Amino acid sequence: MDTRPIGIFDSGVGGLSVLREIKKLLPQENYIFIADQKNIPYGGKTPAQIRLLTSRIIKYFIGKRVKMVVVACNTATCYAIEFLRKKYPSVTFVGTVPAIKPAARLSHNKSIAILSTPATAKSSYLKNLIRQNAIGVKIANIGCPELENLVEEGQINSPEIKTLLRKYLQKAARSKPDYIVLGCTHYPFLKTTIKRLSPFRAKLIDSGKAIARRVKYLLRTSGTENGHGASTVYFTTGDPVKFSGAASRLLKTKVRAKKLKI
Ligand code: DGL
Repeated sequence: MDTRPIGIFDSGVGGLSVLREIKKLLPQENYIFIADQKNIPYGGKTPAQIRLLTSRIIKYFIGKRVKMVVVACNTATCYAIEFLRKKYPSVTFVGTVPAIKPAARLSHNKSIAILSTPATAKSSYLKNLIRQNAIGVKIANIGCPELENLVEEGQINSPEIKTLLRKYLQKAARSKPDYIVLGCTHYPFLKTTIKRLSPFRAKLIDSGKAIARRVKYLLRTSGTENGHGASTVYFTTGDPVKFSGAASRLLKTKVRAKKLKI
């Protein structure tokens, strides 16, 4: 029995979509969730800034003796995980990358669309993932400005978000994809709206379940699973009232966050 918590972080509420999947698979663990909302969007920061901001969070987690850190943010993974792994070799990291590999394998048309933040869309990390995992597959790589900001407000079905989604899905439609990869952890909260608005039929795929399986596997093989946990502490570096409101709406359960100063 290893009762140490698992640390999970994102720039905002998006990471909750990953936390939700991990908790489904591992309900008897203790979790510390951090939303770095003071600094959202990470996509608007330079790679050096992202590395600095995420380092601060890792230092906090190390102080809390976490047994693992889940980077529940595609943008932070693309720009900082290699750096963090080198800087904190004693920490076990699990990153989040767009689910290009399974989508490419499952696609019948051999055509997939990837929706992500503009920063992830233009990253060389993503381009390498495509090169390695989607040979012979047509890719519509679509950066989607503003979506994560609206999800931050707890909007998942508003006129504003629908207008944006229509525009991005229209772009994706040109290559007739049969899979849409949700390459930002904020987007799984938009699944129902995306399905309703999509002008073509496609399956949606995100990374949450695969991350949860990876976390479980790592805990099992290192003998660090917990059997008596089940607590989650939520922190935000931004406004705890705002975070708690949006998180409660998105998770459909009461969330009370505390302010974190790091
Ligand atoms: N949820 C983050 C992601 O998966 C949003 C990134 C941002 O803050 O720009 O990329």
